[in-house]
Amino acid sequence: MGFRIVLLGPPGSGKGTQAEKLNDDLGLIRLSTGDMLREAVRDQTELGKMAKQYMDKGALVPDDVVIGLIEEKLVSIREGFVLDGFPRTVQQADALGKLVSINRVVNLDVDDDELVSRLTKRRSCPNCNVVFHLLYKPPMKDGVCDKCGAALYQRSDDAEDTVRERLNVYRKNTFPLIEYYSKQGILVNIEGKGSINEIYEAIEASL
Ligand code: AP5
Repeated sequence: MGFRIVLLGPPGSGKGTQAEKLNDDLGLIRLSTGDMLREAVRDQTELGKMAKQYMDKGALVPDDVVIGLIEEKLVSIREGFVLDGFPRTVQQADALGKLVSINRVVNLDVDDDELVSRLTKRRSCPNCNVVFHLLYKPPMKDGVCDKCGAALYQRSDDAEDTVRERLNVYRKNTFPLIEYYSKQGILVNIEGKGSINEIYEAIEASL
C-alpha cells in the first residue's frame, strides 16, 4: 500500500484542488466525503435527501453516516489514497484510526477573508468534481469543465452566509483534529496561501 494521506483544513483551503493533483501526479485514490454526499443528493437517494438538510445549512452530516460511507470505500482499496474532507470530528478520526493507519496529515492554513473570496468565486464540475476559480483557476472555456466538458455550477453552500456558518462549524468540530494528529506526530502544517503549484510542491516535499 502507498501513501495514506489526510488533507485537513477549513472550507476553501484547497483540499479538493490538492487532492486532485495528488491523484494526477501520484495516482493516489481521492476519497471526498463531500463529493460522495453531493452525488447522493443529485441521485435523490434516501441518504442524499437526509444529507441535504444538513449540507444546505452548512452543518455536518451525522458521524455514523459518513463513517459508514468511508468504511465502505476503504475495505476495497489496496492502493494509496488521499482523504479530502474526512475526518471532520474526533469521533470520525477515532473510527478512521480503527480502519487503517494514516502516514501523513497535511493541514492547510488559510485566513477567513481569503476562504470567503475563494468559495464565493468557485465553480465546480458536477460530473468529474474538478473545481475552478473565476480568477485564480478559470476554465479555458467560460462555464465548461476543461476535463470532461460538462457545464460548471456554483455549489448552493458557497453563498456567503453559508460559507461563514461552515467556517464556524469547522472551528468548533474540526479544528481540534490539528492537536489530535499533532500528538500522533504525523501532522504537517502547510501555508495554504500562495499559488496552487507552490502549495502542491510543499505538500509533496512533506510526504
Ligand atoms: P466538502 O465538500 O468537504 O466541503 P469543505 O470541506 O467545506 O471544503 P470545500 O470543498 O468547500 O473546499 P476545499 O478545501 O476542497 O477547497 P477547493 O480545493 O475546492 O463538504 C461539504 C458539506 O458536506 C459539509 O458542509 C458537510 O455538510 C458535508 N460533509 C462532507 N464531509 C463530511 C464529513 N466528513 N462529516 C460530516 N459532514 C460532511 O478550493 C476552493 C476554491 O479555491 C476553488 O475555487 C479553487 O479553485 C480555489 N483555490 C484552491 N487553491 C487555491 C490557491 N492556492 N489559490 C487560489 N485559489 C485557490
